[in-house]
Amino acid sequence: YIGIIVSSIIGYLLGSIPFALVIGKVFYGTDVREHGSGNLGGSNAGRVLGKKAAISVIALDVLKVVAASGISALLFDPMVSIWAGLFAAVGHCYPIFAGFRGGKAVATMFGFLLSCAIFTFQDPWMLLIPLAVFVVILVIFQMVSLASIFASITQAIYIYFITSAESIHVASILLAVLVIFRHRSNIKRIIDGNENKVSWLRKNK
Ligand code: G3P
Repeated sequence: YIGIIVSSIIGYLLGSIPFALVIGKVFYGTDVREHGSGNLGGSNAGRVLGKKAAISVIALDVLKVVAASGISALLFDPMVSIWAGLFAAVGHCYPIFAGFRGGKAVATMFGFLLSCAIFTFQDPWMLLIPLAVFVVILVIFQMVSLASIFASITQAIYIYFITSAESIHVASILLAVLVIFRHRSNIKRIIDGNENKVSWLRKNK
């Protein structure tokens, strides 16, 4: 159990690094929490600061999860590293370094899937199938939130059927619950028909 506890702490601390806030403040002098949806994530960084910022934030948010999982896999074992990944997503949503108000666990979910695909299961489809669902929904409906919700459900279902390892079932279902819970305001907007669309993706900022 010590491995799970230490991995969860490493994950939580690394996941708590609020890259949307850091990139916004350091390179643009802007606090993204005060603009757009106020969310500390790649989408809002894109909306407020532009495409380059979005790509940087997403890449760093994915990497912090891979780093946490990689450290845990090295220190303990690949099965234990799943908890580092899950808690990195929790840290991202409730960051100790940013007043516990973070993001919505989308890039970090993909970081979790990438980490599981590399360190634990050597199965690229674990990442690629949810990513494909994300892209298809995004292209059709132009809403990152809707694409994220569908991707989170897809990964939980895929992982449930592809492996019998119970710890990853639990982690991936918790991750889907976290993603959906963090998108409550988006879900309300989707139902009301006024969710933000990704027009910022087409702008050349
Ligand atoms: O990045 C999370 C995304 O799914 C929604 O973000 O800022 O549109 O609420 P946002």
